Amino acid sequence: MILKIVKYPEPVLQQPGEPVTEFNAELRKLVADMFETMYAEQGIGLAAQQVGVAKRVTVIDLSAGKDPAQKLVLVNPEIIAREGKQYEEEGCLSFPEIREKIPRALKVRVRAQDETGKWFEIDGEELLSRCFQHEIDHLDGTLFIFRMSALKRDLTLRKIRKLQREGTW
Ligand code: NI
Repeated sequence: MILKIVKYPEPVLQQPGEPVTEFNAELRKLVADMFETMYAEQGIGLAAQQVGVAKRVTVIDLSAGKDPAQKLVLVNPEIIAREGKQYEEEGCLSFPEIREKIPRALKVRVRAQDETGKWFEIDGEELLSRCFQHEIDHLDGTLFIFRMSALKRDLTLRKIRKLQREGTW
């Protein structure tokens, strides 16, 4: 089922996610719906807050649905190591039309549970690393505008207010 993606400034986007403790049918349904919703919007990552659920669950697929082997479900993820730096453009389904460069670690190692509760570790670099950091930020209630410089954030918020006035946000 395709869910509604909530846009900034919906308060749930800045609410830290509750850790998942039950790996049940409800969680599997949420994960399946999140993939379906993300693919409908051609996204490569989606956090539960973006569908209005403040839980530590994110789905990622750098192939945007073209390669099932790239589907990743991260439940209760934590970044356990970071290395290097990168500064590349990011977008976010909760901020349509906004793209800005964000400083991130070049490589990260993430520890997470899958949808059955099994713990695993996964390394990401470049785009996958950015995606891990962006989505795990969402689970902490941190939005990418708060990783921008104050100047870029002000310009971005001004653009959003303009889109809101035009009724296209
Ligand atoms: Ni996002």
